[in-house]
Amino acid sequence: MQFPWFRHHFLLRRWFDRVFLDMPDAAIRQVTGRKHWPPYSLRAFVGGAQGFDKAGSWFADELWRWQLLGQGSRLLDIGCGCGRIAYALATEPRLDRLQLQYAGMDVDRECVDWCVSHISPRNGRFSFYHADCRNPSYNPEGTETVGGYRFPRADGSCDLILATSVFTHLLAGELRHYLGEVSRLLAPGGVAYTSFFLYQSADEAAAGMARHGIRFPCRRARYAVNREDFPANAVAYEEAYVRELAAEFGLAVLEPAHYGVQDLVLLTRVSDGELRAELGAGWHELEDERWRWTERVFSAQVWRPQAAGTMRLRFLFTVPEGLAPVRLAVWADGVVLEVGVFGGSGEQVYEGSFALDSAGETVRLEFALDRALGLFGEDRRELGVQVAFRPGPGAPERDLLPIVVTDCGG
Ligand SMILES: C[S@@+](CC[C@H](N)C(=O)[O-])C[C@H]1O[C@@H](n2cnc3c(N)ncnc32)[C@H](O)[C@@H]1O
Repeated sequence: MQFPWFRHHFLLRRWFDRVFLDMPDAAIRQVTGRKHWPPYSLRAFVGGAQGFDKAGSWFADELWRWQLLGQGSRLLDIGCGCGRIAYALATEPRLDRLQLQYAGMDVDRECVDWCVSHISPRNGRFSFYHADCRNPSYNPEGTETVGGYRFPRADGSCDLILATSVFTHLLAGELRHYLGEVSRLLAPGGVAYTSFFLYQSADEAAAGMARHGIRFPCRRARYAVNREDFPANAVAYEEAYVRELAAEFGLAVLEPAHYGVQDLVLLTRVSDGELRAELGAGWHELEDERWRWTERVFSAQVWRPQAAGTMRLRFLFTVPEGLAPVRLAVWADGVVLEVGVFGGSGEQVYEGSFALDSAGETVRLEFALDRALGLFGEDRRELGVQVAFRPGPGAPERDLLPIVVTDCGG
């Protein structure tokens, strides 16, 4: 839909909505059981005014599915808006026992005020604060620059950082600074759940990609904006640039990036000596908490930035009824580690070890099964061997990869 010009001016638009739409909206909410929603003029700023509960529950499910919510997790929600995620996290009964500690921050004072008076009273572990940083669309009179803003929290104090639909409103210098802060604030093993508009080439950005439904014709160095007059309304980044920035601050992207209306990028801090594993060919999207694949050969790369040593590889997979026996061959850098036959159906475990001879070395692991697919035209994914999406014993609870690699000394 083409908005009239004034709708691109966020604050003018909020004024208009407040004057003309908030009252009728409040009356409708009263009779439709949505009294707990923020006013229309606030909701309209967070991706559509009508799906407050639905979007909140979607995000709560998503964080749950990714196993990002743990007992007592400390959350920081950068750009929390009018609390559509916070409200769901604060009120969903299944999350009660986790006793989440949540802090929401935003540059939009009205949104923060609403959250303070409507969400904190419902859940005392949820707090919100206003940062008066200047954003030309959301807070043009802000007194602080985003690039100079230091989040008032200790280093390593956050288990989960959310930045949904926020980096899509930051210009490059601001994004760079915030990624530095994310790196400073993440606790060991912590994860940042962030969304972007990503593109591969400036032409692609200008033409717009179907999944984003928005064009970014105004080119800048390695990023692009939708409108020159309101640059912070929508900002897209070259994916390689985001990856470079993340790496600069010691953040690793948990692969694969997930493309959608906005592109999900999960970041974690890489500590010295930590092992990392990245999925290569053959893997498929996560579904129902399982990695699924339809290929017979797939690969992963493992590396450890700082030190050499022997690594243990533990790999879980499920063989469906009727597919056994399955032969598995595993290679590390082209050298066979194992050729084994797994005779039963159900969950199977392969364990092996390999040596990383020097620090910073990368090892390419390949797995090949001689059977994976059914031939009967059903959904092939259901017939494929599945690699279980859960960590092995002793692995960190939030391991997001279907293979688990651990140190076994010397
Ligand atoms: C599209 S809304 C998304 C809100 C929320 N994250 C959600 O998904 O419901 C973008 C939010 O980012 C906030 N924002 C813009 N610049 C910011 C900055 N520099 N720091 C923190 N928040 C910012 C805006 O005020 C706005 O609330």
